[in-house]
Amino acid sequence: MTTAADITREVIASFDSAGDARLRELMQALTRHLHAFVSEVRLTQEEWQRAIDALRETGAITDDRRQEFILWSDALGVSMLVDALAVDRPAGATESTVVGPFWARGAPLRAYGDSIAERQSGAPVRVRGRILGTDGAPVPGAAIEVWQNDTNELYSVQDPDAPEGHLRGRFLSEEDGRYAFESVRPVPYRIPFDGPVGEMLQATGRHPWRPAHIHIAVSAQGYASLATHIFDAESPYLDSDAVFAVKESLIGDFRKVDSPAEAKTLGLPAPFLRLEWDFHLAPAGTGQTRRTVAASDAVT
Ligand code: BEZ
Ligand code: FE
Repeated sequence: MTTAADITREVIASFDSAGDARLRELMQALTRHLHAFVSEVRLTQEEWQRAIDALRETGAITDDRRQEFILWSDALGVSMLVDALAVDRPAGATESTVVGPFWARGAPLRAYGDSIAERQSGAPVRVRGRILGTDGAPVPGAAIEVWQNDTNELYSVQDPDAPEGHLRGRFLSEEDGRYAFESVRPVPYRIPFDGPVGEMLQATGRHPWRPAHIHIAVSAQGYASLATHIFDAESPYLDSDAVFAVKESLIGDFRKVDSPAEAKTLGLPAPFLRLEWDFHLAPAGTGQTRRTVAASDAVT
């Protein structure tokens, strides 16, 4: 009689002659763990069919603007796990976190200090800081890409009514490493929950909320590319992010600035909020280069 163990052994052996050693390792380990999972929970025909349906629904809902596969990876903590294992981050380098599904190529190139808001929206924020190496040296000409959501929770790629470049922008750091832009305070939002990932969250009693944050990706010659967030310290959900992406070191204060004179110089209404944030880039060859966020090839 053929046993469950016989089937697992046979499938593992079927990859023995894979020419690429890494591919062989991946496929054999995948088989081992997948079969162990199926055996451990004694997966039923109906449950397996439900999983296959979820994959089919995931493919059907995914297009240029909606990436449900990445959302599974995020909601199951796999994105953060891959990031934690891949990034060999030297001391002092800014921590990375998930890219998420809302980055899109083609954000407008903007000048130092410009606003990324292309329509009237929430509380004004001036973000400024420096791009530095882990040795504290300023990094001039770094390609910086920023994206965030609006007060309606949506990123412009999700919102048919928003201008395409709204709350998105690419910048280059100045000679002394400085960067600055104006924006609006981001808000907590729900990851897309009208698809199979949302169904999983609902069925398991999990909520879909992420704490408010600004996404920033930075790349520069000679440095490892970085994709990260700055989280708003006053946001709810910092301790229960739906995609497990909060790191203590990435939580920042949006401080209220009352000075009418300062507001006037910046052309902002008083009071406004200020977020000061320096990014410390690891030298090239450490950390992970992220192919999805092509800030550098988009800017240069
Ligand atoms: C985001 O921060 O944009 C995001 C990350 C993971 C899943 C959904 C959204
Ligand atoms: Fe986000």
